[in-house]
Amino acid sequence: MVAMKVVFLAPSYPPEMQQYTRGLAEVGAEVYGVGDTPLQALPSTLKPYLHDYLQVPRILDEADVVERVTTWLRGRQVDRVLANWEIVVLTAARLRERLGVPGMTVDAVQGFRDKQLMKDRVAAAGLRVPRAVRVRTVAETRAAAEQIGFPLIVKPIAGAGSADTYRADNAAELDAALARMRHVAEASCEEFVDGDEYTFDTVSIAGVPAFANVAQYLPRPLAARTNEWISPVIITVRDMAQPKLAGGIALGHRVLGALGMGDGFTHMEWFRKADGEVVFGEIGCRPGGAHLVDQMNYTCDIDLFREWARAVCWGTFEAPVARKYNAAIIFKRAKGHGRITRIDGLREFLARHGEHVVEQRLLPFGSQRRDWKKTLVSDGYILLRHPDWDRTYELAMAAATEITMWAE
Ligand SMILES: Nc1ncnc2c1ncn2[C@@H]1O[C@H](COP(=O)(O)OP(=O)(O)OP(=O)(O)O)[C@@H](O)[C@H]1O
Ligand SMILES: [Mg+2]
Repeated sequence: MVAMKVVFLAPSYPPEMQQYTRGLAEVGAEVYGVGDTPLQALPSTLKPYLHDYLQVPRILDEADVVERVTTWLRGRQVDRVLANWEIVVLTAARLRERLGVPGMTVDAVQGFRDKQLMKDRVAAAGLRVPRAVRVRTVAETRAAAEQIGFPLIVKPIAGAGSADTYRADNAAELDAALARMRHVAEASCEEFVDGDEYTFDTVSIAGVPAFANVAQYLPRPLAARTNEWISPVIITVRDMAQPKLAGGIALGHRVLGALGMGDGFTHMEWFRKADGEVVFGEIGCRPGGAHLVDQMNYTCDIDLFREWARAVCWGTFEAPVARKYNAAIIFKRAKGHGRITRIDGLREFLARHGEHVVEQRLLPFGSQRRDWKKTLVSDGYILLRHPDWDRTYELAMAAATEITMWAE
């Protein structure tokens, strides 16, 4: 077999990137890692999967990374340039164009990064998106609000983690939101879509899903990100054939076509209104974060880290896609500040429901609380699964309400 040479950006951080590096090596790729972690600081478990490694001073400095990688590779032909971290997917595309490597173009990837451009392209394909206007100033936003009407949402064009995303029900709330958004250069002002929120995730080959997944957010992400007392829950849906999901799944397939998806992971979010109408939310050409890939793996008992690598390197997907479980993740936020001192209800929960729990990763006693606004994973999580949706939901809500972490 001819070696498949793959440049993989950010192979060690965020930590799950190490799993993709492993997957690439396991399907026979020579991995050329590029990151800002010093070589000596890479985890020893990662090193066997790296064929070579270039440390760059700033992985987010796109032009600099493109120059340095080009110089580093001089004379060496590579077959793929890949990235699974949202903020470097465009850098990978620029490198592909510079090096003449096949894969998604800068223009195609921009459709997955720029929230207004993505909505324009999805809408141009005749699909339902929230009415939205790109705004740069307070005056532009007020004018957009006139046009769109309340309630509305304002959020950064290139946002992540619901940061700086606000709902405004009237002009006063809009002014309050704008006052908190002064550091945001460009925003999207959108119609507020009221409904349930789901994901549509895929591993695609030439824009066609070889694997697809739907997960439900409980509650909706903006509510979960606004109220600290909530333990956010995400559940993968075992039964994707149920009629209430059909519209969202069909939308997902058409969005991939509209945006010119190539090979790799996609993570889309969509709304289902009470009247059944489905509305596009957003999409990235990379995997969902916050352990969603682990959840999908637990749903089917497969290894998508490796299967993604097979899809992008060799154009095949071999893992079985039969769905066995609904997999729920429950994120916990400790009450109080400082270090974790106590976890109430955990022992009882595990004694009663432990057989369904596949991971228990709550922060141990003595660890510093994390900033819940910055990370969805917060102070840790419990991952559980069950073949029956209602039972999975009950178990997830029990973990959300009966387990309490304390910090001081
Ligand atoms: N037009 C809208 N109508 C209703 N709710 C919305 C709308 N746009 C955004 N939201 C809410 O805000 C959340 C964050 O918005 P969005 O997903 O666009 O940004 P994000 O910061 O990329 O999110 P994340 O990285 O958490 O997925 C959504 O999941 C949804 O709950
Ligand atoms: Mg989102």
